[in-house]
This record gives sequence, structure tokens and C-alpha cells, in this order.
Amino acid sequence: MRAVIMGGTAGIGLAVATRLTGAGLAVTVTGRDPGRLAAVRGQVAAAEQLDGTIEADVAAFFERLGPFEHLVLAFGPATAGFATVKSLSADRLRSVVEPKLYGYLTAVAHARVTGSVTLLSAGSARVARPGTVALAAVNGGLEAAVRPLAVELAPVRVNAVSPGVIDTSWWAGFSEEQRAAQFAAVAEATPVGRVGRPDDVARAVEYLVHADFVTGTVLPVDGGLTLPR
Ligand SMILES: NC(=O)c1ccc[n+]([C@@H]2O[C@H](COP(=O)([O-])OP(=O)(O)OC[C@H]3O[C@@H](n4cnc5c(N)ncnc54)[C@H](OP(=O)(O)O)[C@@H]3O)[C@@H](O)[C@H]2O)c1
Repeated sequence: MRAVIMGGTAGIGLAVATRLTGAGLAVTVTGRDPGRLAAVRGQVAAAEQLDGTIEADVAAFFERLGPFEHLVLAFGPATAGFATVKSLSADRLRSVVEPKLYGYLTAVAHARVTGSVTLLSAGSARVARPGTVALAAVNGGLEAAVRPLAVELAPVRVNAVSPGVIDTSWWAGFSEEQRAAQFAAVAEATPVGRVGRPDDVARAVEYLVHADFVTGTVLPVDGGLTLPR
């Protein structure tokens, strides 16, 4: 059984790669940075350089690969850029929305996947936090796309996991102090009392990869952060 994890060289994607490899799948991870790719070679079946936003390269990659069972889409905008709508230029908006929204749908269009597709969206799709407009737009768009994709691609199953705040390199754009303050505030607001770890999300992705009777769902993995109160 083969799985491809696009954005599998760090953070949540790497945790998914580790879990699926442990479960006996032959995992190919993709990413852009050669250092990160080199670091994971040996831990997974294959690690290939691929920018998920370049359609011609994505198409060629999947053509080379041929049919495989499970696709996990775990790449996204580079930094946790928070900005209110009044401070968003069209270029900034595009840099957040396009790579993930277009990248994920382009990958789905080209992948010759036979079993399941699991997308990483985000809790920002379902909350009203100032500064998260662009993230809400991209992740809300993806969550809305899950159901029609599940019908269009059937019998291939399509689901999303929607994480809350997870401690990964995605937060590297913040200073140490800003990140600590942000994480402390989130832990305080989260019913389970902490921010997430990559493996919290990977366990949910592993479940969906194997859940033969589950399709068209969005599974929040956020410690209860997005519960309406
Ligand atoms: N961390 C959170 O708090 C959080 C919360 C909710 C949702 N999410 C979502 O979960 C997903 C994973 O986030 P993460 O926190 O694990 O991020 P991360 O630690 O920054 O890891 C992102 C991974 O994707 C790769 N990547 C980035 N841009 C890429 C591109 N254009 N083409 C191919 N690979 C690319 C990165 O490697 P290279 O940079 O070397 O390419 C890396 O392997 C994202 O969609 C993110 O929006 C994260």
C-alpha cells in the first residue's frame, strides 16, 4: 500500500509520514527544501523535491508515480501571517490563499489515487478571530470542497482534518516571546488546556486513511478550541 504526503518533510505532514510508515505503508513525502528532504530520507520510502504550487511539476510527479492508494495534502502558506482585511493587499491575500487552495485542488486533479484523499484545513475556517480573514477564506474554501470532491471522486474517499493551534515550524515567523504568549493564550482558551502536537493531528489522519466507511467529512482536531460558546 502506497501513500503520498505533500508537505511531509516537517510538522504535521512529517508526523503523518512517521505514523503511516509505522503502520506498514510505503510513504513518499514531498517538499521544497533539500535539507529537510535529506533529513527524512531513510525514515520513509522516498522523499522527492516538489513545489506543490507548480502545476506542471505536480502533473509530471503524479504521471511518474502512477496509481497509488492514499494522498495526504499537508502543505500550506509559509508563515502564520495574521492581518485584518483592511491591511491586506491583493498580493498578500494571494500569497496566503493561492498556494494552498489551488495547490490542493491541482494535486487532487492530477493524482492517480485509488483509496483516499485527506486534506489539512484549519479551525480558522469556523471561527471569527480578527486577523484570520485570509486563513478563513482558504481553509473554509477547502472544507466546502470536501463534500463535492467526495461525490465526484467516489469510490475514492475524501476527508479533511481541521487542526487548531499546533506547535510546528509554521509558527517560526513569530519571535520566541510572541509565540509563547500566543500559545499560552490559546491553551487558556482550549477546553483540553494545551496547544496541539503534530502527532495529535497525525493520529486523526491515520484514522481517516483507514476508515473505509467515512467520506465527505471534516474532522476538527483542536482540543475543543472552535467549540461555539
Ligand atoms: N501549525 C498549525 O498551528 C496549523 C493549524 C491549522 C492548520 N494547519 C495546516 O496544516 C498544514 C501543515 O502545517 P504545519 O504546521 O505542519 O506546517 P510546517 O511545519 O510549516 O510544514 C509544512 C510542510 O509543507 C512543506 N511545504 C510548504 N510549502 C510547500 C509547497 N509550496 N510545496 C510543497 N511542500 C511545501 C514544507 O517543506 P518545505 O518548506 O521545505 O517545502 C513542510 O514539509 C498546513 O496546511 C497548515 O495550514 C497548521
